[in-house]
Amino acid sequence: MFFLANWKMNPSSLKEGEEILKRLKKFLLKKPKNVIIFPPFLYLFPLIKKFKDFFNFGAQDVFYEKKGPFTGEISPLMLKNMGVNFVIVGHSERRRYFKEDDEILFKKMKACQELKIKVVFCVGENKKERKENKVFEVLKKQTRFFSQKVFPGFLAYEPVWAIGTGTPCQPKDAKKVFSFLKKRFKKTKILYGGSVNSKNAKSYLEAGFDGLLVGGASLKPEEFSKIVSLN
Ligand code: PGA
Repeated sequence: MFFLANWKMNPSSLKEGEEILKRLKKFLLKKPKNVIIFPPFLYLFPLIKKFKDFFNFGAQDVFYEKKGPFTGEISPLMLKNMGVNFVIVGHSERRRYFKEDDEILFKKMKACQELKIKVVFCVGENKKERKENKVFEVLKKQTRFFSQKVFPGFLAYEPVWAIGTGTPCQPKDAKKVFSFLKKRFKKTKILYGGSVNSKNAKSYLEAGFDGLLVGGASLKPEEFSKIVSLN
């Protein structure tokens, strides 16, 4: 099982980030298997330095070019050279606020794959699409550029309406999506994300998911340690 912590644009200082990991370490007692922390870029390297013996780390985003005039961006090559081997691509917040489309996201995935950086590719429908029974149609569209050669190591099903809302997808509905994705992408680990907490986490693992992508609850050390302990 894989447990991924997406901190998003939190917390507000490196010190608080260190505190979260210190406390998480205490709750876990021993080195957990397959836990990957995705802090903001600014904290990534100090945290790797301090906690690399205990946790794996990844980046929340990346650009697709190797280098050049792309102000503000971080390249896959830079990540690789800094020892980062995981990256989230296509989170719904990137799609929504930064207008990243399927084509751009595929380019990002391809660029990472060339450097053997494992991609956590996020997909999921919004509220309207679910109401209109378009879930599978949306997922097909979001993965349409994937090929035999270029596909992600992790595919996270994150229904947009379930992210940060406290309204998770019912495990029986998530299970249908899991089967749909697993059938198409046999070699990919399929994760669930969207309002995961220590009470509902188990039900997604029982539904077959290979792990969880956790947002809000991953910033609470005790809560996240309970989720990770399901391993
Ligand atoms: P959430 O976020 O757990 O706070 O709903 C999940 C995510 O966006 O990855």
